[in-house]
Amino acid sequence: MSDQLAAAPIVLHFRSSGCSLLLESPPGRLPLVRHWGADLGPLDGSAARAACLAAAVTGRLPGELDTGPASLVPEPWTGWMGRPGLVGSRGGRDWSPAFTVSSVRLDGTEVTGYEEAGPAIAEITAVDPEARLRLVLTVEMLASGLVRARGRVENEGAAYDLAELSLYLPVPTRATELIDFSGRWGMERQVQRHGFGVGSHVRENRRGRTGLDSAYVLHATEPGSGFAHGETWAVHVAWSGNHRHVAERDSTGLALLGGGELLLPGEIRLETGEAHTGPWVYAAYGEGLDRVAHRFHDHLRARPGHVASPRPVTLNTWEAVYFEHDHDKLLELARLAGEIGVERFVLDDGWFGARRDSRAGLGDWTVSEDVWPDGLHPLVDAVHAHGMEFGLWVEPEMVNPDSDLARTHPEWIMAARTELPVEQRSQHVLNLSIPECYDTVLRQLLALLEEYDVGYLKWDHNRDHVEAGLRPLGGVPSEHAQTLAVYQLMAQVRAARPGLEIESCAAGGGRIDLGIMEVTDRVWVSDVSDPLERQRLMRWTGQLLPPELMGAHVASPHSHTTSRRHSLSFRAASAFFGHFGVEWDLTSATPGERAELAGWIALHRTHRELLHTGRVWRGPDPADGIWSHGVVAQDGSEALYTFTSLTWCATGAPPHARLSGLDPDARYRVRPLSVGGPPAGFVAPAWWTEKGFEAPGSALTRIGLQVPTLHPEQSVLVHVERLA
Ligand code: DGJ
Repeated sequence: MSDQLAAAPIVLHFRSSGCSLLLESPPGRLPLVRHWGADLGPLDGSAARAACLAAAVTGRLPGELDTGPASLVPEPWTGWMGRPGLVGSRGGRDWSPAFTVSSVRLDGTEVTGYEEAGPAIAEITAVDPEARLRLVLTVEMLASGLVRARGRVENEGAAYDLAELSLYLPVPTRATELIDFSGRWGMERQVQRHGFGVGSHVRENRRGRTGLDSAYVLHATEPGSGFAHGETWAVHVAWSGNHRHVAERDSTGLALLGGGELLLPGEIRLETGEAHTGPWVYAAYGEGLDRVAHRFHDHLRARPGHVASPRPVTLNTWEAVYFEHDHDKLLELARLAGEIGVERFVLDDGWFGARRDSRAGLGDWTVSEDVWPDGLHPLVDAVHAHGMEFGLWVEPEMVNPDSDLARTHPEWIMAARTELPVEQRSQHVLNLSIPECYDTVLRQLLALLEEYDVGYLKWDHNRDHVEAGLRPLGGVPSEHAQTLAVYQLMAQVRAARPGLEIESCAAGGGRIDLGIMEVTDRVWVSDVSDPLERQRLMRWTGQLLPPELMGAHVASPHSHTTSRRHSLSFRAASAFFGHFGVEWDLTSATPGERAELAGWIALHRTHRELLHTGRVWRGPDPADGIWSHGVVAQDGSEALYTFTSLTWCATGAPPHARLSGLDPDARYRVRPLSVGGPPAGFVAPAWWTEKGFEAPGSALTRIGLQVPTLHPEQSVLVHVERLA
């Protein structure tokens, strides 16, 4: 297959926010991405075609097929020896489709030659009459400079078994490193870096939820890249069920990033006239990891449904009471929460059915009369009387075998064989693709919202799906339908109660992706609120999500999950740059601690608008063990930075941290922010004055400020304001 350009292929050039995507649709082939990266500037048709020629790769290597570049959905017939984009067959036939583009539409208008557009959406239809398949590719350049693409396969022949539909974008040969994530409970989003050599780096998820170990965002970068430097290309599959992220380099040097949904064996059989649509695959380009993150943040913030009001300071009861729902204690907790400035009070697990511990009750979403004889009314009323919104924990996709629901409808439990899957946390998964099951769960949730004034649901999901089958049909795979049903359920619940917010929680941060963010309003980053761990968790969860979507709570002095002890100032400073809250039994806190926490809440409320709308800059970190983090107002007028010592500083005197994101041509006042006394081990640097230190932006961004001497596991905050 030759990569020679045809006489006049259709070419689309999308440009937005410093990014270009040059898409060429040569006759007889699926569209090729010729360039995805830095803006090429305005191009006319002949310049765009020249750019395509410049970007073209002809793989004429001795002994190799001349494969040319892979298309958005790489096809074996072109000589591409890597992973195909579409995998499927009709009883062993039609497994190697060869699609030809029949129409290219840009924002709904047919394109026949060259078009340049800003944010715009293209729909490319391709057909393979022999395989009797049609493929519709949607490619969108968003205002943020993010690109997203997805595919839809339509079957025009006899039944077709689809095993995979993945989309890929090319990255230049110079992207020789990969960065993605792994993790486990309490340790979500562990960064991993590896070389991007020949072969496939495949991150597959079969957990039925995004996963505590999710690849999250898969980056390919120039060598030695960091937050601020190194060209970086990244993909993210916006799907909360089984999925796959892939980086692949073949032996001729072609490198691709992509992914899609991971389908279980036999899961998608398309009968004649049926279609399957894959999830959006997002693609972000930028110089350094921060600029890649900015594109995701900008995109999320531009959505019409993005949380707009000030993020209410939240108290969640889990670590305060666990399953011990003592009425008086919870009322006292609500009183103390209201007193220190909390604005939303969330009653966690334990309020329903026979739920006195994790072994029973899931599935029975009615208030437990044993612990709440008058229903939740006394608590809800008290919470409202203290000026707070009421929130409630639910886990609607789950069921304990010890529940009325499981006893009545064992056939609604997901299973692939006669025997039930292995249990996790004594629970199973309900198959929401069964209409009666879906309706029962929906009805129970709506009844709760009808009876109680609930403004917020913490929606949990505490186990992986194992053998996610549909029992009434002998266990056929049901993961795809389940994921769609969950999205629909969340959307329906939100629509029924305007203003209701949903938090995506899954044993901590196990369901965080751009699919679930379409129907939820924040995430629980992790069950670990130990601030030392949280520093890392917040920093890396922020690669996809802006601060206002990341729940971050101040927990008790002694961490329940790690047993470390930390000062209140370090705990509060570590939660400060997220959606701030409390996860602490305030009845056990001293009056002095509560007063100090009230001070932190007040400080957060003063600055939350900046924190929740500004641009995030991580680092550049001045030294190992010292992290800097900033949020700068979009107009550069104001910023907040924090410097954190994770360990003793190995370099002797604390180094200088540069304040990324400020305007080098402006003049700023830098003022420390604190509540209570200085952090342990604090020694003020020369610039530190309570009144504020005035300096040119050029000095702050290029020289930086010396980080104060601090004991390990301490933070300071500084506020920066532009002077007229
Ligand atoms: C797991 C969550 O991550 C916790 O915050 C808490 O809600 C528990 N589930 C309750 O069972």
